[in-house]
Amino acid sequence: MRTLAPSGSPIRLRELLACATAVGKPAADTLRQALCAELGVKHAFLMANGRGAMSLLLRSLASQQADRERRYVVVPSYTCYSVAASALMAGLEVLVCDIDEDTLCYNREQLESIDFSRVLAIVSANLYGIPDRLPELETLAQRHGVFLLDDAAQCLGATVAGRRVGTFGDAGILSFDKGKIITSINGGVIVTNNDALAAKLAAALGELQPLPLATRVTELIKLGVYFTMLNPWLYGIPANLPFLKLGATRYEDDYPLQRYFDGLAPLALAQFRRMAEINASRRACAAIYEAQLPRMPLLATISPVANSEPVWLRFPLRIRDAAARTDFLSKNRKNGCSASYPLSIADVPEIRDRIVVQNGTSHGGRTIAGQIVTLPTHGYVNDNDIARICDGLTLLSASPACATRSS
Ligand SMILES: Cc1ncc(COP(=O)(O)O)c(C=O)c1O
Repeated sequence: MRTLAPSGSPIRLRELLACATAVGKPAADTLRQALCAELGVKHAFLMANGRGAMSLLLRSLASQQADRERRYVVVPSYTCYSVAASALMAGLEVLVCDIDEDTLCYNREQLESIDFSRVLAIVSANLYGIPDRLPELETLAQRHGVFLLDDAAQCLGATVAGRRVGTFGDAGILSFDKGKIITSINGGVIVTNNDALAAKLAAALGELQPLPLATRVTELIKLGVYFTMLNPWLYGIPANLPFLKLGATRYEDDYPLQRYFDGLAPLALAQFRRMAEINASRRACAAIYEAQLPRMPLLATISPVANSEPVWLRFPLRIRDAAARTDFLSKNRKNGCSASYPLSIADVPEIRDRIVVQNGTSHGGRTIAGQIVTLPTHGYVNDNDIARICDGLTLLSASPACATRSS
């Protein structure tokens, strides 16, 4: 039976073969140069994953500060748990700031109410390929003398006012993980125009150990499995193996900081070179969802901010009734529909006693955690899939929850 993954980036055979035929070629250098040229940045540093990249970047920013009292990293109340983990891994504190339910961007009032005297950096949200209010964040960060880290892990290729997400503020991070805009199974990048910061990062990166041989072999095996199994006719096999826990969100902060496995660079480079095509297809999916989604009070879409061009890594939707949401998800998991992160960052059990929540409130984050459903937009999604998903949403109008609301 056809089963769609919630996200991913299909790999072409020639992209897979590029890894085999490029052994010994300087593909990682070419990848760095391509990233710099395309994003218009001076420096790009490759690491094993995005969370490691964020952690190393935060550590370097902390050491660049004359004022070592600045220990807090502001993170959105609803985002990937790795964002908070990266700050804690860097030996810093997490300050959770609430988000707006309608945009998934930081809530302006909450952000403005922060006492920035002990804040080191703000991490932008940019979830599901939808940019945060980046020019505003940049101005705010400058006004308070704090760093802005532009997290483009889910938003590579999106723009705000014509500028690429990831290039706002002092430095950005990208991810080439399995569920991202483009993939090389793993991979993280730090980009910056700041020469002093770049010198620090180069020194820090030089001290890291290369990936152990066993890890490199495992990455190549994972690559073969991903290439084969992301296909909807096969994805049902791994998706139904409970021990693989595909799609489960776990909090982890015990990962080592490691360099990128250069053997994967030809794949990242090949995917990066066709990123415009990959993102055009995601945007086309999002436009069809927009056009075909049933209009009913039970459902709400997320509104991108003015002047932004999202890339829709996934198409997020709010189902405002818990029972209707559970019902939809249980019937549409095989269609790639997902509950995404189950908790607000403020409520993650492993860290909730170690973090500070601005004004003690995470209302927006909690609301989104309880309502969000993401619809797939990757290259394996076709018009029939979208029609099936939209039909499933239309059926919710007959659910008791919907009937009660409209009566
Ligand atoms: C918003 C965001 N930032 C950072 C990361 C970390 O990236 P990686 O998975 O490459 O460690 C992720 C991962 O999912 C993410 O979603």
